Amino acid sequence: MTSSFDSGLGIRPRRMRRTPALRRLAAETRVHPAELILPVFVREGLDAPRPIEAMPGVMQHTLESVRQVARDAVAAGIGGIMLFGVPATRDAIGSQADHPEGILNLAIAAVHEEAGDQLVVQADLCLDEFTDHGHCGVLDAAGEVDNDATLTRYEAIAITQARAGAAVLGVSGMMDGQVAAVRTALDEAGHADTAILAYSAKYASAFYGPFREAVDSQLSGNRRGYQQDPANRREGVREAALDINEGADIVMVKPASTYLDVLSDVAEMSPVPVWAYQVSGEAAMIEAAAANGWIDRRAAIEESIVSIRRAGADAVLTYFALELAGWLR
Ligand code: PBG
Repeated sequence: MTSSFDSGLGIRPRRMRRTPALRRLAAETRVHPAELILPVFVREGLDAPRPIEAMPGVMQHTLESVRQVARDAVAAGIGGIMLFGVPATRDAIGSQADHPEGILNLAIAAVHEEAGDQLVVQADLCLDEFTDHGHCGVLDAAGEVDNDATLTRYEAIAITQARAGAAVLGVSGMMDGQVAAVRTALDEAGHADTAILAYSAKYASAFYGPFREAVDSQLSGNRRGYQQDPANRREGVREAALDINEGADIVMVKPASTYLDVLSDVAEMSPVPVWAYQVSGEAAMIEAAAANGWIDRRAAIEESIVSIRRAGADAVLTYFALELAGWLR
């Protein structure tokens, strides 16, 4: 027996890295199109898809062009689509969010009709795209986001989205008790089969920057009164535990790459699937560096997603979903 200090070089990890075939066989983590989810923006009143400057290759879609995205998603074999709506008019309580003819609800119905049996149709359940102040909830007299009054709005939105045909609702506003409130409302309205994706550990992040352009965000100020402090790791696990207890079918960590520790902790404790969202700013960093010739774009995208999977994500929301699925074929 050699001592553990002695490398007589009987142990050679490089053996398993020698050929592409060995490396493929030895890979501990794989990425499959079925576990990729594409976020999609649909804007009211557009005649043609409109590029988003801060998100190269990503568009604001029309009610017509989102149908083509749904067909492309089916052809690419990805797991689902996460829809965001950009309304033409906004008010203090985000009335368009639970209006049956609101842009997001029409988009859900269109995608559901186009591909609802081949694709998991998901919708963002939040108020920030729909309020004139840009916050994820309604405000009280002092201008603070009113947690409990916001829950009532989320309940109404949930029922509208479920009726429109969404199979999974992405509850993303970071209000306390939001999962329990939405679960109860859905069940009472006869939508016990509609699943809840809880944005459990959602951090107040600078990496949402480009998304603000994608949804024409009206926000001045910030979301630090409800989204989590980037300094906190244990709190992310606590939020996931609360959401699981309230009936979440899936829990999520967001952003992904700068929170892989939280993702790993949540994956360790969660009895339900754990997803991660590679957000707009994460994509933007890759695009900007690649555009400058500083990194290999495809390699960076592949590495970023396999790393998010390795840290514990069962599925990943990524703006690269269609492209990556194409490479994986
Ligand atoms: C809230 C929401 C946001 C994102 C997804 N859902 C914005 C925010 O919380 O400020 C960001 C996604 C991204 O940056 O890609 N409805």
